[in-house]
Amino acid sequence: MTQRVVTLAHYYTQPEIQQMADKVGDSLELSLFAREAEADIIVFAGVRFMAETAKILNPNATVILPDAGSTCSLVTQTDVAALKTWRESYPDHVHVSYINSSAEHKALSDWIVTSRNVDDIIAHLYEQGKKVIFSPDRNMGAYLNYQYGYDMPLWSAVCEVHDKFNEAALNEALGAVNGEAYLIAHPESPLPVLKRADYVGSTSGMLNWVKQFSGNPEAVIFVATEDGILYNMGLARPDLDLRQAPIYAGCQCNSCPYMKMNTIEAVKRAQQGIGLKIDYLTPAQMDAARLPIERMLDFSQRYYA
Ligand code: 13P
Ligand code: SF4
Repeated sequence: MTQRVVTLAHYYTQPEIQQMADKVGDSLELSLFAREAEADIIVFAGVRFMAETAKILNPNATVILPDAGSTCSLVTQTDVAALKTWRESYPDHVHVSYINSSAEHKALSDWIVTSRNVDDIIAHLYEQGKKVIFSPDRNMGAYLNYQYGYDMPLWSAVCEVHDKFNEAALNEALGAVNGEAYLIAHPESPLPVLKRADYVGSTSGMLNWVKQFSGNPEAVIFVATEDGILYNMGLARPDLDLRQAPIYAGCQCNSCPYMKMNTIEAVKRAQQGIGLKIDYLTPAQMDAARLPIERMLDFSQRYYA
């Protein structure tokens, strides 16, 4: 019997990979798609925590990551034993973790969030009078504390890609524009950059902002996120002047080395069953990590249906 192969790709993968995929999306969309996919093999052209999430949500499928090296700095900067000690020092807090985390990390969490639903889920918890700790992304947590006046204790890891965006390079780029300029940014960026942004949101959120842009068509729109998304934005709005925010003068070159390990050859091999099989998580580990993920997916389906 032929195997049903479904290929998922994140917006940060190169255009050719996105063209090969059955579904392209942000972390939330890809998780939902993986859960529902009727597939024998799910090829996940993204990074390892995404492939692990797909396996946790669809344990009967074989999930393959094209390149075993596709990690994420938010995962590698988080020592799970230290995280456990930190979590235990706040026994009366709810632990909210960003989806960019290992399965072990998820199992130590009460809720998982993505950049798409983090604002709404944390607001929901505060409305219920809960106290919250947030991990692992320090920049995202600092932004939420600033934006909504929370006082969440934060774990301290960063996305090595978004953390490179900085105010000095941004000011220089904005200063060089004669007319109107906008900035949209992913919440993994540092707080001074996010404070300047006209819109802060997930990859899909930024893409939708661009699609719906009805301001001055001559304006320059700077995008503070990984360069892969510029492909989708350009397809959606070829009429706009979209530029990646610089990390230093003259550089529109900020890309995620882990996402870019998804080469065409590696994805084709994965479609033949060759790559990193996510088969190392025990049923108990998957059950423990699934609980906070399902809580998020249920919330998202209720609120965004
Ligand atoms: P999104 O969920 O916004 O697609 O973000 C994933 C990611 O890894 C951003 O660096
Ligand atoms: Fe991780 Fe940053 Fe790469 Fe996203 S862009 S996968 S957060 S290292």
